[in-house]
Amino acid sequence: DDEKAFYRHKIKQLLKARNAVIVAHYYTDPEIQALAEETGGCVADSLEMARFGSSHPASTLLVAGVRFMGETAKILSPEKTVLMPTLQAECSLDLGCPIDEFSAFCDAHPDRTVVVYANTSAAVKARADWVVTSSIAVELIDHLDSLGEKIIWAPDRHLGRYVTQKTGADVLCWQGACIVHDEFKTQALLRMKALYPDAAVLVHPESPQAVVDLADAVGSTSQLIQAAQRLPHPQMIVATDRGIFYKMQQAVPEKTLLEAPTAGEGATCRSCAHCPWMAMNGLKAIADGLEQGGAQHEIEVDAALREAALLPLDRMLAFAA
Ligand code: 13P
Ligand code: SF4
Repeated sequence: DDEKAFYRHKIKQLLKARNAVIVAHYYTDPEIQALAEETGGCVADSLEMARFGSSHPASTLLVAGVRFMGETAKILSPEKTVLMPTLQAECSLDLGCPIDEFSAFCDAHPDRTVVVYANTSAAVKARADWVVTSSIAVELIDHLDSLGEKIIWAPDRHLGRYVTQKTGADVLCWQGACIVHDEFKTQALLRMKALYPDAAVLVHPESPQAVVDLADAVGSTSQLIQAAQRLPHPQMIVATDRGIFYKMQQAVPEKTLLEAPTAGEGATCRSCAHCPWMAMNGLKAIADGLEQGGAQHEIEVDAALREAALLPLDRMLAFAA
């Protein structure tokens, strides 16, 4: 409609004027992803967002996602201005792993290598030996296990359990969860599989174990898109944020994509297959971010924290290369 067209036009002008580029996550709304694509930005998983932001020549990054993604971009590119549509876009994993408690947890187990998921604050990253995203978690834990290292994993308990099962490593796990993936339901999924016997089930490893156990493919957002292309099934039941449907449907236009169930019949859930914080990334908020910057929109990371958090992030990028 008119208002959307107005903001799309305005954002394009502001991107040029500011020498800025949009770095968007797959879970943002389709109109944000489409705009990022149209304007030379990226739509990606957390790892690719970090890579794209740090290697792109733009002087300003507009990160459409959640706060830890903006912080990661700033840590990797301190010379760039990093703006977000809103700094209120949090993540339940980040919120569920406060630095004081986490630091005490690490101090209590000094013999363990500390591996944290990208979905954490800069302070938690600064306390870690490694940062990982879901696309390289199994490989990294496998690698550390082969070196004989014992591991602290934080914050997602489902992903922690998944990598432990896959690798057999000695992992002590923080008990955080993603409010979106934690809601996928096994019984309802079984009923859905019965309704669609030809469908493959694609699951993000932040989901509960019983849901992961029903999967034909488990992986990060970009790995799930690849699985949709690789698997022969005509339909895909997808257990992750529905924002991913935009790029997944582009990748497999001939296939039918179905949302995995988040609740049993008659039940409700807090965040049915769409992250409430990702949903804060609207067109108006992006235009405001680019136009106004400042304390409402600009990511700042304390210099000492940045230096400490850069080390495990650089390790992640080197390991993933
Ligand atoms: P990936 O994009 O790395 O799979 O992460 C999923 C996620 O929950 C990001 O918020
Ligand atoms: Fe965090 Fe889950 Fe939202 Fe991703 S989908 S930002 S893990 S709450």
